[in-house]
Amino acid sequence: KNIVILISGTGSNMAALVQAQQQRQWQQKWGARVAAVISNRPDAAGLQWAQNQGIETQVVDHQQYPTREDFDQDLARAVAHYSPALVVLAGFMRVLTEGFVRQFEHRLINIHPSLLPAFAGLHTHQRAIDAGCRMAGATVHWVTPELDAGPIIDQAAVPILDDDDATALAARVRTQEHLLYPRAVEKILAQLTPPAC
Ligand code: GRF
Repeated sequence: KNIVILISGTGSNMAALVQAQQQRQWQQKWGARVAAVISNRPDAAGLQWAQNQGIETQVVDHQQYPTREDFDQDLARAVAHYSPALVVLAGFMRVLTEGFVRQFEHRLINIHPSLLPAFAGLHTHQRAIDAGCRMAGATVHWVTPELDAGPIIDQAAVPILDDDDATALAARVRTQEHLLYPRAVEKILAQLTPPAC
């Protein structure tokens, strides 16, 4: 079962997934492996890290396309090349068209840095602090055409401390994301794999 990860930047969640795959033997347990990492930005730091792990990488640079639809069509082609069982958005900062989402429906997941349905969209940590929330967190969810609104797969919560700024809170949430995302992917892989008799 091929997993394709889409990133735009650092790729710390991507790295957490690759490390979990190696350390927790996804290949042996579920026949699953991260087959490719694809970025919409040529300068995404995570690309180099993935290459160093021997993972195929590819860039589909959104700036080279006149429209979102054109970009998504090429991105879909790049992803479909691997016939993925699961497409994992890990800090992928482009809103995907309905066409793309439908093509990979029920195989497409995202991690979002808030306790959805609260704070969909950007600047989640500052918004949670400004709202006076005492808890923040991250959500792994199925991707549907509506932004950050698909069915929730799993969540992790962290406290918001009195002296938190968005950076401090983001770091606390990120640490939890690195545990949450592999756990959520393992839950899906287990469901995709019929029990041995
Ligand atoms: C994470 O906070 C994730 O929730 C959000 O983008 C960030 C990506 O970070 N969607 P990284 O590139 O995985 O380090």
